[in-house]
Amino acid sequence: MKVIITENYEEMSKKAAELIIDVVKKNPKAVLGFATGSSPIGLYQNLIKDHKENGTSYQQVLTVNLDEYVGLNAEHDQSYAYFMRTNLFDYIDVDKKNTNLPNGVAPDAKAECDRYNALLAENQQDVQILGLGSNGHIGFNEPNTPFDSVTHLVELTENTIKDNSRLFKSIDEVPRTALSMGIKNIMQAKSIVMVVSGKNKAEAVKGMVKGEITPALPASVLQLHPCVTIVCDKDAASLL
Ligand code: GLP
Repeated sequence: MKVIITENYEEMSKKAAELIIDVVKKNPKAVLGFATGSSPIGLYQNLIKDHKENGTSYQQVLTVNLDEYVGLNAEHDQSYAYFMRTNLFDYIDVDKKNTNLPNGVAPDAKAECDRYNALLAENQQDVQILGLGSNGHIGFNEPNTPFDSVTHLVELTENTIKDNSRLFKSIDEVPRTALSMGIKNIMQAKSIVMVVSGKNKAEAVKGMVKGEITPALPASVLQLHPCVTIVCDKDAASLL
């Protein structure tokens, strides 16, 4: 596990973007695993800037996102489908037909998870971007999710509902369930780039990097992956 500590969010975003751009330059048909949340927004802004200034093309990539809230359709402004369009896809030359997220309004959640797992089985991520929940979750894999899990329906913890409520009008509007890639789907990626920022993540970062490898802290599984880069600002790294 390589840890890069940066001065602030801006530098973290720039460094992490360089790693992703490198993958796309080496392989224009790369499979890119994307994440949502506040952490990767700056990274995406750097991808857009590079696309505009240097012409890095996403025309041939295929994208797979980690997760989606159950019950929010792609037009809902808090859905992860909407997030990806408005923070990245609308501003680069990706073919929208090649962008994939779990469908949060699929009538049969189990069938939707099976569909997504089949897609991932065919398309190993060249790089998977991750954020980190303050309780150590990755994607929406909450504490005690088995390491061999694949895409599944998740009951969000109170901690996550509270953390994510800042983006909704009220906490009652935060969906209680989500569809998420499992830990096994994340670990299948050839490489992983995680972005983490802020003091509220410091405890989880410490556990992830230095703690016991345990489902109680899902991100600790990354210690077992051969090619992980954690890019974190100094606040997130303050307990290392
Ligand atoms: C959400 C997402 C995760 C994300 C995490 C951290 O619950 N499902 O993929 O990494 O929260 O979000 P943030 O970056 O906003 O702190």
